[in-house]
Amino acid sequence: CGIVGYIGHRDAWSIIVKGLHRLEYRGYDSAGIALLDGSLKTYKKAGKVSELEEFAAGKDKTGTIGMGHTRWATHGEPSDRNSHPHQSGDGRLSIIHNGIIENYATLKEALQAKGHVFNSDTDTEILVHLIEEVQKADNLDLAEAVRVALTKVIGAYAIVVMSQDEPDLLIAARKGSPMVIGVGQNEYFIASDASPIVEYTKNVIYLKDNQIAAVSRDEIIVKSIDNIIQTPSIQELTLKLEMLEKGGFDHFMLKEIYEQPRSIKDCMRGRIYPKEGKVQLGGIKDYTEKLKNIDRIVIIACGTSWHAGLVGEYLIEEYARVPVEVEYASEFRYRNPIISEKDLVIAISQSGETADTMAAIELAKEKGATIFGICNVVGSSIPRITHAGVYTHAGPEIGVASTKAFTAQVTVLTLMALYIAQQRGSIHQGEMVKMLTELDEIPSLVEQCLKSNDTVLAISEKLKDSRNCLFLGRGSGFPVALEGALKLKEISYIHAEGYPAAEMKHGPIALIDEDMPVIFIATKNSSYEKVISNIQEVKARKGKVIAIVTEGDKEVKKMADYVIEIPDTNEAYLPLLATIPLQLLSYHIAVLRGCNVDQPRNLAKSVTVE
Ligand code: G6P
Repeated sequence: CGIVGYIGHRDAWSIIVKGLHRLEYRGYDSAGIALLDGSLKTYKKAGKVSELEEFAAGKDKTGTIGMGHTRWATHGEPSDRNSHPHQSGDGRLSIIHNGIIENYATLKEALQAKGHVFNSDTDTEILVHLIEEVQKADNLDLAEAVRVALTKVIGAYAIVVMSQDEPDLLIAARKGSPMVIGVGQNEYFIASDASPIVEYTKNVIYLKDNQIAAVSRDEIIVKSIDNIIQTPSIQELTLKLEMLEKGGFDHFMLKEIYEQPRSIKDCMRGRIYPKEGKVQLGGIKDYTEKLKNIDRIVIIACGTSWHAGLVGEYLIEEYARVPVEVEYASEFRYRNPIISEKDLVIAISQSGETADTMAAIELAKEKGATIFGICNVVGSSIPRITHAGVYTHAGPEIGVASTKAFTAQVTVLTLMALYIAQQRGSIHQGEMVKMLTELDEIPSLVEQCLKSNDTVLAISEKLKDSRNCLFLGRGSGFPVALEGALKLKEISYIHAEGYPAAEMKHGPIALIDEDMPVIFIATKNSSYEKVISNIQEVKARKGKVIAIVTEGDKEVKKMADYVIEIPDTNEAYLPLLATIPLQLLSYHIAVLRGCNVDQPRNLAKSVTVE
């Protein structure tokens, strides 16, 4: 979910609405805004922020203090009633909340016993009633009531609270859910990430876990949940406004696909030295001794980041010769995993906020493992709880379906594999020089892959009405197939599956008929001949074959219905190139089907709940 708060001298409504639009990628089931102008005014609506705007058109929206929320439903269906802000029983307090209150059922019972009546199905409403109860019982001011109430809460949260009784104050608090405060001239901006803030100020405070901020127009007082005054540090944002805009593209996703030659280059900048055959990763440089002595690497991640992890497995095992396991964070955390001090855990996350990945990191840390992070959002939570790490530097990714963050993650994993190989002496210097020289070429080869756009669009026309699609690849082409299938189902709602090509005969082959498109990663590499046999198996059953092939390929062309050419490269870098046309394919199919590409239904960009 997304949070925006404002206190100052400007019109709060317009700042908050604009901020909610910028945060909408975090969730868009419903939206709501409360303004405090003597009394509380609340507008909320199921649906997108634009629907909230229509709903509130012509109504009184004056006020210079307020807060807004865009929701990704956890407790309770998306509806007007369940939208935030929520009010206390007497209507004097208002709250917005990201996260989950785990002990909400116990709190609810206790509050009901005291006569509280609830109007929604959310855990958030319980929290605001709890604050009200605590405040009344001990006659506390708002900041103190919020602090005391939070000591009774188990779970994750980022909240903003306002009270009619203290009309020049916003209270913000966080635990396990991100929150940034922008510092202006006699005004403050609160948000779940910096994107709504950047156009007003560059100075921000990242609130830490268990901190509570009392924000008035001219002052901010931060306390810990144990009531100890904290001195917040003001940092300068590196984010630029143009990074958050579409820059002439129809969708953020398309812009982000086209940014990849640049984002991959930025990711390698200052880290590779092809002539010297050297990789430098400042973020993990203090761990070189450790890297020589690890027995195993466990990669943990969710979604697309997990697919990047699978590519990482191939790269690390091939070059660093360390055994690698790749785990879904959500599974890892609940199954008493065997982890020791000899393990290196690599956690991959675009947002740096995914709840399951965070919990898995904490677990591995308790068991004594060394944890590296690979994250995109600078200053997010995961980089703060890991021992060391490497940022992907892809820039903000707004499209909910991950594109440039994925290729940047794969790039960092490539660098890490070569770095670890270097430390462990498992790669010859000559090979390093060759590998890095070829890696340096990748941004311009990605540029060439983007030239397949027209071909891909033409193929998309043919595939747009399919009900199912199969994606097949071998070796590191397998995670590419998984990622291609995920992209298609995420944004076009066509059911798609990725499979290792050789496994097709153990199941998916039963699905193949003339209506079943099968997309093959069939580039010239070590499994080329084997993939050709798999293509023949599909053709023999009248399946429609779309193949990603190496430029100049003749053999596959003879068999496939459609081919998409990509430039030749070192096999290790195949995922960086083969992914590009698959991103374009899902994009065009989704557009042709009239889907909302940047904000597909039911999904959210950063999932801060388990
Ligand atoms: C959500 C997003 C995916 C993303 C996954 C993991 O499901 O919609 O695009 O891959 O979370 O997110 P992370 O930020 O940890 O990479």
